[in-house]
Amino acid sequence: MTILTVETTPFEGQKPGTSGLRKQVPVFRQPRYAENYIQSIFDALEGFAGKTLVIGGDGRYHNDAVIQTAIRMASANGFGHVLVGQGGILSTPAASHVIRHNKAFGGLVLSASHNPGGPDGDFGLKYNASNGGPATEKITDAVFARTRTIARYKITDTPDIDLGARGETMVEGMTVTVIDAVADYADLMQSLFDFDAIRAMFKSGFRMRFDAMHAVTGPYARRILEGMLGAPEGTVVNGVPLPDFGGGHPDPNLVHAKGLYDLLMSDDAPDFGAASDGDGDRNLIIGRGQFVTPSDSLALLAANAHLAPGYAGGLSGIARSMPTSAAADRVAEKMGLAIYETPTGWKFFGNLLDAGRVTICGEESAGTGSNHVREKDGLWAVLLWLNILAVRKQSVRDIVAEHWRTYGRSYYTRHDYEEVETGAANKLVEDLHARLPNLIGQEFGGYTVAYADDFTYHDPVDGSVATNQGLRIGFADGSRIVVRLSGTGTVGATLRFYVERYEPAGGNHFEETQKALAPLIAIAATLTGIAERTGRDAPTVIT
Ligand code: G1P
Ligand code: ZN
Repeated sequence: MTILTVETTPFEGQKPGTSGLRKQVPVFRQPRYAENYIQSIFDALEGFAGKTLVIGGDGRYHNDAVIQTAIRMASANGFGHVLVGQGGILSTPAASHVIRHNKAFGGLVLSASHNPGGPDGDFGLKYNASNGGPATEKITDAVFARTRTIARYKITDTPDIDLGARGETMVEGMTVTVIDAVADYADLMQSLFDFDAIRAMFKSGFRMRFDAMHAVTGPYARRILEGMLGAPEGTVVNGVPLPDFGGGHPDPNLVHAKGLYDLLMSDDAPDFGAASDGDGDRNLIIGRGQFVTPSDSLALLAANAHLAPGYAGGLSGIARSMPTSAAADRVAEKMGLAIYETPTGWKFFGNLLDAGRVTICGEESAGTGSNHVREKDGLWAVLLWLNILAVRKQSVRDIVAEHWRTYGRSYYTRHDYEEVETGAANKLVEDLHARLPNLIGQEFGGYTVAYADDFTYHDPVDGSVATNQGLRIGFADGSRIVVRLSGTGTVGATLRFYVERYEPAGGNHFEETQKALAPLIAIAATLTGIAERTGRDAPTVIT
């Protein structure tokens, strides 16, 4: 067996500024494609000789092949040890934990998150650093630069490892350990939450449905919810990860998890419903008769986290992405906590978490997490909700209503316009950008613009500055319209409009959301000229 140095050519494909590579499977299956990217990552890193690399993915189509390649390349490039999840499986938050727990040098996370899988679906790969979080821009920029100059990669000619059985194998001079994909993560969850209280709640007849969407959280949810917490068998549905997610779209929103939503709104609704996405970092929370928006969920979890043992000492601070509603700000204010507003994307929370400035963070796009790992964590959010429900012994609906009575409600919606012609989308943003200064002080249908800017983030930890992070138009009553271009869409441009209105304590908190926001949605349409510019008379997706 030998180490081969294979000649290759630079490849175009990665978008600059993104934390990984996400492409359709046929693209990823091209000769040398994955190899080029993995070598570009290794070439951008320093000092890993003899160190440990964690490898795992969400089980989607092509996962196993790329893992075998990554193992051979890790060996050829001089890593000393690879930890790989059994069956090639590691949810993204579990991978983050395994990296931290084992003090690994870093990890390769194979996933295209909530995008569909299968031979014609999507595939993805990213590098996470030793803190367990997505690589910093410094590293991803270096990887990107390397993809443009790469001329060779290193790989062994060793046979495939049996990923199905736990144990150790040598690949040239490197040890490969196939680990239990769930165990470490389950231990971590048990250390954070009151499993006895949750177990007692299930024992007393509490009913739940967890939809794993045939994605990676199936084995985690089964072991933790049905195994350790005694939820009845069948609580977890679609619990077997499938390479094509059963043909579904593993995005836990009201469109793709409609069955779960309908169940929770029906006469036969269980007490609690939840779902997670392809790689297990997003969450959907629905109580009986009560959907909880991710922005509200973040605020509610922050307000109640102290009820769980892992957060009994209180929070150091809260962070939310800019487009996320201000519901969490009101909790922070009342509790005397620092609140940080960051650009979209989990990587911006990393510095705040590492510096101990925040304990909990979240995004409107169904991501919530804490300092226990450096990724958002779907099952963690579900378990924190269960812990809160077990202690408060109230329904989700009552807890939400009480929260709004105390803090007021941020009515919130996101309208996505997908596959818009790129030129038109860019022009829309550009033109609105140019008009921002003139909007201040103007009145639109009773709403007066208090501020209008292009969000710039000054990282308080490392002083870095991120510009052009989305256009914000704030109104005197606390309402807000945000317009930004998605960084993750794969076809054309995706325009996102985020609209929120604050209804203070004592107000009407039970209007239908789209109705409550209709005047602001109309203002957004007028200000952007979306219909005339793109020919669209309605958003593609409303969440
Ligand atoms: C989207 C979400 C963002 C999330 C990201 C990765 O990015 O909006 O909150 O961090 O996916 O899951 P976008 O397409 O808006 O750039
Ligand atoms: Zn995900």
